[in-house]
Amino acid sequence: MFIEIKKLTKKFQIDRKHGKGEEEVLTVLQDVDLQIQQGEFISLLGSSGCGKTTLLRIVSGLLAGDGGTVTVGGRLVTKPRQDLSMVFQNFGLLPWRSVLDNVAFPLEIDGQSKEKRYEVARKLLTLVGLASFERHYPHELSGGMQQRVGIARALTRNPSVLLMDEPFAALDAQTREVLQEDLLRIWNETRCTVMFVTHSIDEALMLSDRIVVFKSAPGRIHSIVEPPFRASRTTTDVRLHPEFGVTRAALRAMI
Ligand SMILES: Nc1ncnc2c1ncn2[C@@H]1O[C@H](COP(=O)(O)OP(=O)(O)OP(=O)(O)O)[C@@H](O)[C@H]1O
Ligand SMILES: [Mg+2]
Repeated sequence: MFIEIKKLTKKFQIDRKHGKGEEEVLTVLQDVDLQIQQGEFISLLGSSGCGKTTLLRIVSGLLAGDGGTVTVGGRLVTKPRQDLSMVFQNFGLLPWRSVLDNVAFPLEIDGQSKEKRYEVARKLLTLVGLASFERHYPHELSGGMQQRVGIARALTRNPSVLLMDEPFAALDAQTREVLQEDLLRIWNETRCTVMFVTHSIDEALMLSDRIVVFKSAPGRIHSIVEPPFRASRTTTDVRLHPEFGVTRAALRAMI
C-alpha cells in the first residue's frame, strides 16, 4: 500500500495553570489505521477538533506522532519530504513576491537556476489556469486565484502526495465549485495521491474515491465510505447520480 498509517496515536500536553505545573494530557488521535493506494483521492470528514489537521501534519512530516507509524512509498515519514506537499486553507503566499516567484519559491530554496524554476513554474501556472497572471502580486488576485497559486506552488517539486487542509473553505460557493472541478482535472493530470480535509459533505462526495469519517475525543476513524459513483466523475455528474442523496444522508448521520 502506498500510504500506510498504523496505530497512529498523538497526545498533546496541555498546560492548564499557565506554567504552575498542572498538566493534562489530551489524546487527539487514538490508534488510527488507514491504508491509501497510490493515486487515490481520500477525504477526511469529521467535527471540529477531531484531529484532521493533526493527522495531516503528521503525514506531512511536520509533526511527530507518539505511537504508531506513517509510511509513504515504503519509507517511514520522520520529517518533511519533497514527495509530501501541503496546501493550506489561508493560501500561505508571500505577499512581496509575484505569482511566478511564489510558485518558483520551493525550487529557489532547492538552489535551482532561474531558468529551470521559471520553466517549471510557468507550466504549473498554465495547469491551474493562471498563465497570464505571472507578474501579478497576491493582493491583486481573487481568493480563488490565490488558492490556484497555492496549488501550483505545492506541485513544484513534483510531489507524489498532496495534503490539502480545507483548501477551499475561505472561498465563496461558486468559486469553490470551479476549483473543485479544476482540482479533479489537476489530480487526473498529475496522478497525485490526495488527502483532503473538508467540513463539507458535498465536497467530499464530489471529489473522493473514499471518505474517511472521524469520531472525536479521541480522534479515531468512525467509518470509511466509498461513494458508489466514482466512475462518472465530474461534479455535476456526481450531484445528479441517483445515489447521491442517500449517500449524503448516511454521511450526515455519522457526523
Ligand atoms: N499544538 C497543540 N497543542 C495542544 N493542543 C493541540 C495542538 N494542536 C491541536 N491541538 C488540539 O488537538 C485537537 C485536534 O486539533 P486539530 O486541529 O487536529 O482538529 P481538526 O479536526 O483539524 O479541527 P478543525 O475541523 O476545527 O480544523 C483539538 O482539540 C486541538 O485543540
Ligand atoms: Mg483543522
